[in-house]
Order: sequence, then C-alpha cells, then structure tokens
Amino acid sequence: MKKARDVVVKTKQIVKKHKADKSSLIAVLQDIQEAFNYLPKEALKTAAKALNLPFSRMYEAATFYTAFSLKPRGENIVKVCTGTACHVRGASALQDKFERTLCIKPGEMTPDGKFSLETVNCVGACALGPVVVINAEYHGQMTMNKVDKIIDKIKQGGAQ
Ligand code: FES
Repeated sequence: MKKARDVVVKTKQIVKKHKADKSSLIAVLQDIQEAFNYLPKEALKTAAKALNLPFSRMYEAATFYTAFSLKPRGENIVKVCTGTACHVRGASALQDKFERTLCIKPGEMTPDGKFSLETVNCVGACALGPVVVINAEYHGQMTMNKVDKIIDKIKQGGAQ
C-alpha cells in the first residue's frame, strides 16, 4: 500500500501531465488507476482539487465506469472471462480453479496483496476462449493445468 503522501505527489504529476484540464477527467482517472491499480480516495481528492472540480464529480465518474475500482487491488490482476463464448468452453470451471488456487472469490484480493481475482464479460477474443487476462496479457485456450503453472510462475517473480 502506497503512503498517502506518495499518492498525492503521483496524482499531482498525473494531473499536471494532463495540463489540469477538466475535460481530461477520465484520462486522469485511467492514469491514476494505472499507477495504483485502483483509485485511492486520497488520489480522487487531490485530483478533484487540482482540476478544480467538486469531489462528488470525481466520485461519480469513478463509480460510473466498471473499469475503475475503488477497492485496493493486488499487484497481479486475474480476469476470468465469463462471456458466452468462454462460458460454453468451460470458464466456470476455470473460475473455480482460480478461486481454489488463490483462496479468494471474484472481487477479492489475496492477503499478501499479490493477486486480485475478477470476472469480466467478453474481452473481445472469443475465438481463443476460454480466455483469462492477467495484467495486460491475454491467455487463450486456458486449461486447468495452465492455471497452476501461470500462478506459480508469477509467485516466483517470473514473467507470465
Ligand atoms: S466471451 Fe470471452 S472473449 Fe468473448
């Protein structure tokens, strides 16, 4: 977890990059989420002040888009696609497998802050289903065996 001061400094840099332009609100939120993996309250407050917007406006935008998270997320974000094409190819069983392997449910983070598990509805790679996206990397034709290998590799600090 980042210290509040670090969050404020980084957020100010992000707003500055967008020239404190109110119309860049969504881009600012995207950059904040990229920096911290979620939208810390301190960052929203800082950005609202720097953009000269009411906090309620920031909060409204942050909660409107499902891509934004107000809850802390792990260093590694596992997204299991549960869209129709992936569902018929076994996404539910894969979701179960990730839940058992990580000992968390979708929307939760492991106690060590290493992983978050989420479900998403179609990531636009249906032909590769079932698909799991880990951080920005797509893993197509995912199997139960691959789950353990990928998680072990990340735990050992290797690339996915
Ligand atoms: S349904 Fe999973 S990628 Fe489209």
